Amino acid sequence: AATKFYQFNIQVNNVSRLCHAKPIVTVNGRFPGPTVYAREGDSVQINVTNHAQYNISIHWHGLKQFRNGWADGPAYITQCPIQSGSSYMYSFNVTGQRGTLWWHAHILWLRATVYGAIVIMPKPGTPYPFPRPASEETLVFGEWWHADVEEVVKQGNSLGLPPNMSDAHTINGKPGPLFPCSEKHTFAMEVEQGKTYLLRIINAALNDELFFAIAGHNLTVVEIDAVYTKPFMTSAILIAPGQTTNVLVHANQMPGRYFMAVRPFIDAPIPIDNKTATSIFQYKGIPNSVLPTLPHLPSPNDTTFALSYNRKLKSLNTPTFPAIVPLKVDRNLFFTVGLGMNPCPSCVNGTRLTASLNNITFVMPEIGLLEAHYFNTKGVFRTDFPDKPPTPFNYTGAPLTANLGTTKGTRLVKLAFNSTVELVIQDTNLLTVESHPFHLHGYNFFVVGTGIGNFDPNKDPAKYNLIDPPERNTVGVPTGGWTAIRFTANNPGVWFFHCHLELHTGWGLKTAFVVENGKQADQTVLPPPKDLPQC
Ligand code: C2O
Repeated sequence: AATKFYQFNIQVNNVSRLCHAKPIVTVNGRFPGPTVYAREGDSVQINVTNHAQYNISIHWHGLKQFRNGWADGPAYITQCPIQSGSSYMYSFNVTGQRGTLWWHAHILWLRATVYGAIVIMPKPGTPYPFPRPASEETLVFGEWWHADVEEVVKQGNSLGLPPNMSDAHTINGKPGPLFPCSEKHTFAMEVEQGKTYLLRIINAALNDELFFAIAGHNLTVVEIDAVYTKPFMTSAILIAPGQTTNVLVHANQMPGRYFMAVRPFIDAPIPIDNKTATSIFQYKGIPNSVLPTLPHLPSPNDTTFALSYNRKLKSLNTPTFPAIVPLKVDRNLFFTVGLGMNPCPSCVNGTRLTASLNNITFVMPEIGLLEAHYFNTKGVFRTDFPDKPPTPFNYTGAPLTANLGTTKGTRLVKLAFNSTVELVIQDTNLLTVESHPFHLHGYNFFVVGTGIGNFDPNKDPAKYNLIDPPERNTVGVPTGGWTAIRFTANNPGVWFFHCHLELHTGWGLKTAFVVENGKQADQTVLPPPKDLPQC
């Protein structure tokens, strides 16, 4: 095993897209930022130096950071932000994981431009469980606003208005030729006929689940969130913010130029966003003058496609890559997801949209929760987050538009070391039903069940898949439905749990798990690094 070192300089650069130039926050002047490469078993050290005027922190999304929440990165959860002029070294081991993950800024909406891929190659002697591809390419999807991202956030958070929809989606930072002035901002990958390619796909968009397809070519899904899956072929994939998907694509068509395209999946009664980002799957030797064809993408509200796609995802579950699903459960949790409205004297309409789990809107603390936990600092958070909502109701019945107030608090769920947890996340029709991709830091979990309507504790568990359920770190709770996940709380520390739609996270759709130390010396949170940023 090796030690990989990276220097990340957080800086402001002018970048032009869609006919406008604007200053954006970047890493090393690159947009998207540099890819972090490692091999399973390596140590990684990433020194982040903040040359910008914004506070920042970086999260290594999907890395488990065993006992080492100090390197996880969410601001005010595991660390104070890195202030302008300061540095912090994220130092971690890549153990027991291989595949595609990603990194992003984890404070306000800075991840709009501060993100990149993480590629973890398998250990030597443990090849991919599929034929070796001729080569590999990384595709990172994002969103681009004309406005300064700070302004977009302000609109939602301080003015209480819904934020602007983004002006473009991007593939590797480029919107592609269907957007104005974007001919030269088009990503292309060159392929040779007869060869097979591995695409490492990451959804770094702030607020949109996305469909992706390549004209004329099928995709074979082989990995999600850095866990191998049973391979299956599909005409398109669906990927939520936070998720990654590896697919194989066989360049088996007439040599030509084919669009790879990305478009949102939106199944909530909000304005349909129809914009399509494109890049080019380009056969070698074909001139750029040949017009590419567009793939057939599912329509933006194609819930049927979404459900059937998600049902096909299964862990590979072989002796080398087993699915170790907890079969008995020590702790049952049930979280309702609600949107709401709280009074806001300074807001344009006197109210602000809010979001809650079990009717609690999470309030960010002023120091890092992990530090408060480690040093036993009182008064920073409580561990009385309820296991169930305060009042059961018909969650997915007619929209509830009265009594939308929530209670606020920095309330966490405490879990005993090594306890097995089942969490059912139930979407509700408070204001409106909507799909929410939930992400758990520090862990992968198994998605043992999902359904539409209200979860039935007497009937639904009998239908769980406890053999080869998909294992991941981010899962979509379907619109007006529920998802059940299981994990073993074997990583001590404080681990953020939130909706990965930045809009909803900002509204308070989040909490954190405090996993207690185990009895053995190697089951406790490591001491904090000396350069841990202070608030
Ligand atoms: Cu990718 Cu807490 O996030």
